[in-house]
Amino acid sequence: MENGKPTSRRRFLCLTGGLAAGVVLPALSSTARGAQTEAAGGNPVEDLMREHGVLRRVLLIYEETANRLDRKEALPPDTIEASAHIIRRFIHDYHEKLEEEEVFPRLQNAGKLNDLIAILTAQHQAGRRLTDTILQYYQPAQEPEPPKHKEKMPAAMDQIYGGTPLIFKPKKRKPSGPKYEVGSAMRQFVRMYRPHAAREDTVLFPALHSIASPREFQALGEKFEDRERQLFGAGGFGKIVDSVADIEKKLGIYDLSQYT
Ligand SMILES: [Fe+2]
Ligand SMILES: [Fe+2]
Repeated sequence: MENGKPTSRRRFLCLTGGLAAGVVLPALSSTARGAQTEAAGGNPVEDLMREHGVLRRVLLIYEETANRLDRKEALPPDTIEASAHIIRRFIHDYHEKLEEEEVFPRLQNAGKLNDLIAILTAQHQAGRRLTDTILQYYQPAQEPEPPKHKEKMPAAMDQIYGGTPLIFKPKKRKPSGPKYEVGSAMRQFVRMYRPHAAREDTVLFPALHSIASPREFQALGEKFEDRERQLFGAGGFGKIVDSVADIEKKLGIYDLSQYT
């Protein structure tokens, strides 16, 4: 923000604000405040923490989804797949890669937080496995299986009973096998990532701040923004926030005042 030139992402955030105003704007004002104290260029810690904001919103989506699966309530189509894809693309393949490639090695080279980093790395791997599970079990609009007993029913039996006799009715299949797996994986994901992100926000990122020179810090910020632009295009962060907001609206959890 030095020389009055905000970075591209900040420019974007200044220009937007309509859709997710309640969430993005407060972050914006803190960004603006934080930027005054930082060197020119992006602030990598602010970027990482803002990405945690996206993660936390998806955790709320996961929680709502798991609750509805437990209650056997209907879910809007595609919200499971859409939210898990945001986690895969934005958190696993982008945010966590930045941590693993740019943050962890710097701290390890400085001999800091090795035990914590080992746990965080293991949790990233566990998170990826949970996302695989969620997407693996995700099955859009399943066609109901044709009753298998019908094929085995002899024609004579059909004539006698005029249909399926009660005794031949198959045992009710456990309807929520895959759904149970999805709900359970989502709960495990929420349980792990809440403390994970909180520990990074309060311990890991401040430690990065303490070892990096202002110049290195600035270069890292620019690097993060370049990577983001490469992967998600101009205004990529805003688009991800919009996608999260769309899912929240479908689930009826977008309105922030409901949490008051
Ligand atoms: Fe992490
Ligand atoms: Fe993180």
